[in-house]
Amino acid sequence: MRLFAAVPLGEEARELCLGAQSAYRRHNVRGNYTPPENLHLTLAFIGEFGDPDAALEALSEVDFAPFTLTLDRPGRFDDLLWAGFADSPALEELVRKVRRALAGAGIPFDRKRFRAHVTLLRRAEFPAGKDVSVEFGRAETTVDRFCLMLSTRGRNGMIYTELGSVEARR
Ligand code: 2AM
Repeated sequence: MRLFAAVPLGEEARELCLGAQSAYRRHNVRGNYTPPENLHLTLAFIGEFGDPDAALEALSEVDFAPFTLTLDRPGRFDDLLWAGFADSPALEELVRKVRRALAGAGIPFDRKRFRAHVTLLRRAEFPAGKDVSVEFGRAETTVDRFCLMLSTRGRNGMIYTELGSVEARR
């Protein structure tokens, strides 16, 4: 089972991402656009792991207070275009806690440096090979829970299913 831990986006943040995707489409940027229901912020990528209950149990140990993130910038890794956030020590701390909980339970995860992003489209192709920049507003999203997600390959792309969630401390 292909697993990852992620934060679902609030409505306002999702709208901002959809607006940025529309702007790229208007500029004739082609690629594999993330469908609205798949927009998310990954905290940790576990990858192939056969025991989701153990993963959820480990993640449930993460104790965190709710915080707010501000989505405010576009970014790019090669041909992957993403939406990014204003710096957030609370997010960095949450990622450290999530990784520590997984490591403590012997659950594998991708240990690459965390770079907070919401993937908007993959395999972007720019018209005439020219980079395109789009207007990007600001939107806030509250992080008061995160989820263990299952990723499966559907007929028309990836399907992400929530297997369970961890709520912030009240
Ligand atoms: P991406 O959007 O930048 O590809 C499910 O694949 C989620 O896990 C995506 O948000 C993906 O990020 C993220 N992820 C992080 N590390 C990954 C890896 N090594 N392989 C696949 N997905 C990874």
